[in-house]
Amino acid sequence: MLLHLNAGAGEGNAPNVPLMKPLTVLGIETSCDETAAAVLRLDEDGRPNVISDIVLGQAAHHAPYKGVVPEIAARAHVEGLDGAIAAAMADAKLGFTDLDGVAATAGPGLIGGVMVGLLAGKAIALAHDKPLIGVNHLEGHALSPRLAPGGATFPYLLLLVSGGHCQFIAVMDVGVYRRYGSTMDDALGEAFDKLAKLLDLGFPGGPLVEKIAQNGDSKRFRLPRPLLGREGCDFSFAGLKTACAREAERLGPGITDQDKADLCASFQAAVLDIVADRTRNAMRMFDPVWGAKGRLVAAGGVAANQAIRSRLEALGEERGYDFVAPPLRWCTDNAAMIALAGAERLRLGFSDDLSFPARPRWPLDEEAARLRPSHVAGRKGAKA
Ligand code: KG4
Ligand code: ZN
Repeated sequence: MLLHLNAGAGEGNAPNVPLMKPLTVLGIETSCDETAAAVLRLDEDGRPNVISDIVLGQAAHHAPYKGVVPEIAARAHVEGLDGAIAAAMADAKLGFTDLDGVAATAGPGLIGGVMVGLLAGKAIALAHDKPLIGVNHLEGHALSPRLAPGGATFPYLLLLVSGGHCQFIAVMDVGVYRRYGSTMDDALGEAFDKLAKLLDLGFPGGPLVEKIAQNGDSKRFRLPRPLLGREGCDFSFAGLKTACAREAERLGPGITDQDKADLCASFQAAVLDIVADRTRNAMRMFDPVWGAKGRLVAAGGVAANQAIRSRLEALGEERGYDFVAPPLRWCTDNAAMIALAGAERLRLGFSDDLSFPARPRWPLDEEAARLRPSHVAGRKGAKA
């Protein structure tokens, strides 16, 4: 039997879970350019407590190349991970024997890095006879808004916007996900990063574009807003990216800091319009699921963008949705969200074999189909 309360009953801040034994889980995250380890305790009532949370960024390693270099990332994970895990355990004042499980990101991501983290998780699980949970990184992001005190209760409409993904997902419960729309080309974080690279702003690009945009004129450049006004909630950013490249080319080598600020501000204004339009449509798809008052949640690195958060919050007010986003440190990649996803799955009785593979690609809906086939419309028992 699946352990979950009536998904629609989650008004206020009560987590929708039954009473249970507390679970303490070590999380490991190495799927891109953050080497991270965290210890989380899921209390009897399902409330998550992040006991320790270590993130070693690799920006300095990748900055000279203006983007993440997979081989350099994997090597940096090898060098940093043992220390990150030791620090997370020391901060938590726990030994491995105190854990109820070890959760490691098993994909999707840069395969070298994923293998480093998953292998470390397997080694700890094997050496200390603990269950291993191979976590889908996207599930970590999807559940991350539940980390904050009074965080999101199920169900919620999730806008997952990161460097590799851009999609709307109805999050009904742990393992019960239905995708409404996704990007047809670039992820939103990728679009931010490419603009930063084009303007030679530095790495990682998203926060720099956001910062520079604050001093810019958002009306100076007339940029396209692909798919605006169209049905559905898919995204497309390729046309916007090309238009920015054309403007930068037109400005030529004499481009000034003010030109850059204006282009970033115009880009971000276009992004805000696109995100608002797409979110409105996604809400229309989600409304019948929820009923009276919905919850809109943003997660992933781009959800750290204050302008996007403000626009989504305003949209929520307009449409009668509560808006929830994780604190900034849990928007970008971290291990607390991996520990949470692992603990939630452990609570449902799931753990994985030591042969569990590292996967460069791993759609969240496929995971949903595997975990709870009966909850995923049209996918009963099917492998996506
Ligand atoms: O979730 P994340 O840390 O890694 C992935 O799973 O991809 O997201 C990283 C992405 C990068 O593209 C980064 O530029 C973007 O999130 N990002 C931002 C901001 N902070 C991070 N984009 C826009 N504004 C920000 N403040
Ligand atoms: Zn991520």
